[in-house]
Amino acid sequence: MCGIVGYVGRKEATPILVEGLRKLEYRGYDSAGVAVLEEDTIQIVKAVGKLSFLENKLQKEKPTGNIGIGHTRWATHGKPSAENSHPHADCSGDFAVVHNGIIENYLELKEWLMEQGHVFSSETDTEVVAHLIEHYYEGDLEEAVRKTLQRIEGSYALGILCKKEPGKLIGVRKDSPLVVGIGEGENFIASDIPAILSHTRKCYLIDDGEICILTPDTIKITTISGEIVNKEIFNVSWDAEAAEKGGFEHFMLKEIYEQPAAFRKTLSGRTAGNKVQFPDFHLPMETVSQWKKIYIVGCGTAYHAGLVGKTVFEQLLRIPVEVDIASEFRYREPLVDEETLVIVISQSGETADTLAALREAKHKGAAVLAITNVVGSSISREADFVVYIWAGPEIAVASTKAYTTMLVAEYLLALYLGQLKGLVSDTLAGEIINALHSLPEATDRILKETAKYKEVAEYFKDKHDVFFIGRGFDWAVALEGSLKLKEISYIHAEAYAAGELKHGTLALITQETPVIALCVQQKTYDKTLSNIKEVKARDAQVLAIAVEGDTEVGKYVDDVITIPEINNFVAPVLTVIPLQLIAYYAAVARGCNVDQPRNLAKSVTVE
Ligand code: M6R
Repeated sequence: MCGIVGYVGRKEATPILVEGLRKLEYRGYDSAGVAVLEEDTIQIVKAVGKLSFLENKLQKEKPTGNIGIGHTRWATHGKPSAENSHPHADCSGDFAVVHNGIIENYLELKEWLMEQGHVFSSETDTEVVAHLIEHYYEGDLEEAVRKTLQRIEGSYALGILCKKEPGKLIGVRKDSPLVVGIGEGENFIASDIPAILSHTRKCYLIDDGEICILTPDTIKITTISGEIVNKEIFNVSWDAEAAEKGGFEHFMLKEIYEQPAAFRKTLSGRTAGNKVQFPDFHLPMETVSQWKKIYIVGCGTAYHAGLVGKTVFEQLLRIPVEVDIASEFRYREPLVDEETLVIVISQSGETADTLAALREAKHKGAAVLAITNVVGSSISREADFVVYIWAGPEIAVASTKAYTTMLVAEYLLALYLGQLKGLVSDTLAGEIINALHSLPEATDRILKETAKYKEVAEYFKDKHDVFFIGRGFDWAVALEGSLKLKEISYIHAEAYAAGELKHGTLALITQETPVIALCVQQKTYDKTLSNIKEVKARDAQVLAIAVEGDTEVGKYVDDVITIPEINNFVAPVLTVIPLQLIAYYAAVARGCNVDQPRNLAKSVTVE
C-alpha cells in the first residue's frame, strides 16, 4: 500500500508532487507528506488524513525547490499520526525517504541503530532506511543506498533525497511497484503511472532489485551490485483523462458506467465467428493437454471472480478446479505441480498475497496464467501467460468494472482452452460468444434504471444487517454484492448459499434483516424460491434480482429488480450490476466517502 512519487527537474516540485499524490490517493489516505530540497535544507511538510489536509498546510508553508518526494500512506507500522507520516528523515536531516512496503527486520535494525546513537522520531519501519543511509553515507549517496539495501529485508519501493547531492533523486524497488517517468529536462518516479501521466507517457517499468538514479537530464538504472541495466521504454497508450472522473460524482459510479465500453475492449479481437482466439499468447496443445487440474487464486473481488470461474472452467473443460484466497494458498502447501494450471486474478497486478501465490505456484512447477488489468504490473511480468481484461484504469477502491471484465476474460479463456482440446462444440461456443457480445447493450439497459436503484438504496441505507442469498452462480455473485455493500456503506452484509441458510443463519432472520435474493439461475430457481419462502416466513423483507419477464418471483417477495434476458451461463456478469448500484447509492445516501472507504486502499501491496 501507500503511494510514492518523486520529481527532479527545473519546475517547482511541490505542485507536481501534490498532483501526483492526488492520483495515488487510492493507495492509502491515512496521511500525506512531501519533502522538497529548498536551497540547502530538506523541507518536510506532512499532515494526517486526506491529501486535502496536506494541501491546506502547504498553502501556508509551501517548500520551494526543483526536487522532491511525496507520499500518501496506508498505515501498517504505527498509527496514522504526524510522526508516523512520511517522508522520514535521519538524525541530521540530510536525507529524506518515502516508502511503500514493509521492512520486515526493522526492529532489529532499529535496535542496532539506536545502539549507534541514532534517535528515532516515529514508530514506522521506514525510518530505519533514513538512518541506515545516514550511517553508510561517505560522500556517495548511491553507495550508501546500496549498503542500506544489503541490510534491509521485506518489500519496498523507495524514493530518496540527499541534501548534499542536490539534483539527484534515487528510486529503488523490491516487491512494491515503481515506475520511472521520462521527461524532458525533468524525470519522475511513482508507484503507478497515473501519477506522472500528465507529464509524460514514456516510462521505465522498474524490476525487483533495481536502483534508479535520476537527475533532470539523465536516468541511470542499475542492479543492487551496480551493473547498468538497459531497459526498454514503455509507452503508455491510455490517456490521463481515462483516470479522471469525467463529470461523474465518484470514480466508482464512472467505472460502473464504463462497463459496456470495457466489455467491448475485453472482447475486442478475441472472437472470430464461433472461435475464441488469444493473439496475446501462444499455448501449444502439448502444454494445455498436460494440465489435469486448475487452481484459481485471488483476493477480495478477484477471488469472487474466481468463484464464478470455477464453474465456468469445470463446465467447459471438465477438469477439477479449486479456488483459493491468495493469502491462504501459499500457506496450505497446495497440491500444485507441473500438471496444474494456476490462474492468478488481480486487477492491479500488484497485490502482495496474489504475487506471493504466483511465485509459490511457479516454484512448484505449475504454469501460471494471470488475468489482470495493469500492463507491466509485477504479476503480468512474472506470469507465464497473461490475459489482460482491458478495463482501463480503475481508481475507486471498490472494484466494479474489473470484476465484470474478469468474468468476461474467464469465459473467453475457458472457451479458448475448451476449443483447443476439442471439448466445446461450435454451437455452444457460438451461443456463449453471442451472449458475451450482447453484454454492452444489456448493461446499458440496466444502467438506465437509476431511479429504481436509488429508491431501493434509500430503503437499505438505515439497515444494520443485510443478507444476500443465491445458489450456484447466483451465490458467487451474492458474495461480491455483499462485499460491495459492506466496503463502501459500512452496512454489515453477508452472503449465503441459499440452501445453507437453514443450517444456522436462518436464526438471524427477523423483520429487521432484509434479504436480497438472487433468482437468476434457472437450474436452481425453484429451490431458491423455497428459500425465499423460508425467510419470508420469518418476516424478512425480500428484494429479488430476477430475469426480465419473470412473473413468478414477484408473488413471494416485496420488490423485484430485473436484468435483461441473457444466456444463463453468462448472466453473472449482469446479475452483479444492480448490486453494485444499490451499494453505491446506499453509501451515497449514508454520506460515506465512496471512493475512499475507511481503512482500505485500492492496492494492497503488503501481506
Ligand atoms: O488488485 P487486485 O484485484 O489484486 O485486488 C484484490 C482486492 O484487494 C480487491 O479486489 C478488493 O477486494 C476490492 N476493494 C474490492 O472492491
